[in-house]
Amino acid sequence: MQSSSACHTAPDVLVVGGGIIGLVTAWRAAQRGLSTAVADPDPGGGAARVAAGMLAAVTELHYGEQTLLGLNLASAARYPAFVAELEAASGLDTGYRACGTLAVALDTDDRAELRDLHALQRRSGLASEWLTGRECRRLEPMLAPAVRGGLRVDGDHQIDPRRLATALLAACARAGVVFHRVRADRLTVAGDRATGAVLADGRALTAGQTVLAAGSLSGGLPGVPQEVLPPVRPVKGQILRLTVPRPYAPFLSRTVRAVVRGSHVYLVPRENGELIVGATSEELGWDTTVTAGGVYQLLRDAHELVPGITELPLTETLAGLRPCSPDNAPLLGPTALPGLQLATGHYRNGVLLTPVTGDALATALTTGALPAEARAFSPLRFGARPTASPTVLPSDSVRQEQSA
Ligand code: GLY
Repeated sequence: MQSSSACHTAPDVLVVGGGIIGLVTAWRAAQRGLSTAVADPDPGGGAARVAAGMLAAVTELHYGEQTLLGLNLASAARYPAFVAELEAASGLDTGYRACGTLAVALDTDDRAELRDLHALQRRSGLASEWLTGRECRRLEPMLAPAVRGGLRVDGDHQIDPRRLATALLAACARAGVVFHRVRADRLTVAGDRATGAVLADGRALTAGQTVLAAGSLSGGLPGVPQEVLPPVRPVKGQILRLTVPRPYAPFLSRTVRAVVRGSHVYLVPRENGELIVGATSEELGWDTTVTAGGVYQLLRDAHELVPGITELPLTETLAGLRPCSPDNAPLLGPTALPGLQLATGHYRNGVLLTPVTGDALATALTTGALPAEARAFSPLRFGARPTASPTVLPSDSVRQEQSA
């Protein structure tokens, strides 16, 4: 591995964006002996600050996403070893909990939808057990009497994304990754090759390879030729953080989720007493306002599932931006522009896909090709992009958002 000072001149790899996807890419690249730098004004920030951290390959399965399911399952399977390695490398706890998930239904329509999901899960060979309402309440006594049935999925776990980001930052630092705590303003291209980036403070960083991992901002980095610009857009998610005081513990023992009148709601209980309630899904561009309507919707739906929630202190409300691609799946690895790779577009699965993304990008950066499990997610699947209107970024462009 080259020394830090060498990194300041011309690292092998420059990662634009220091959310969890950028950080895992940098960590894995540095472990492979590549001198690596990250450009981000606030590394460890981005959408991971907002994400609930569900590792929900099975309960978040959607029709038409079976290819993505393969990648999600591959990443879920790697999580225990990934967490053990990261915690050893960083000396920090990530809040990983193999606690399982219960997806429940409140009325006849919800139950029919959940039955459909169960059938899809079984056709896909996934482990998921149908429970009656009474069986659901036996597992989770705080559930409302109205719960009509549910799916028990013991393989869908959780992690604390903020602690994950902090651990990745520490592991990167220990592996020799250099951090430039400045926004990357534009990609530089010389001839037919990406050569690095110009930072907001005017510095030009040259690198052997550049990885664009700036979450929803990836779709509009100036300097990226139009035909390789990733087709990624922001999808807003609002979430709430509550605290379970000691006498209530354990309020819930696992993640509980449901579709209430068409809206997804989930409650993720952490070991430290935090309870995350999420999330809205809103196509509102770069808006990250927390709205009364968003908070009302989440509390109303969560209260229908778990009425006792209204007794808990509400400690934080916030909104983040999921980077969404046209097929809801990430864009990984080499682009048509030599020297430029992508690690973006993770949409709802950024936290879940962190281990497999790190491995895929490390392979792509060292060999020039993606490993077999990631090949379906090459950016080349979208072909050349139309030359019409580029994504308009928020005026300050200061946040390097990452996937939720
Ligand atoms: N994966 C949860 C969410 O995107 O809200």
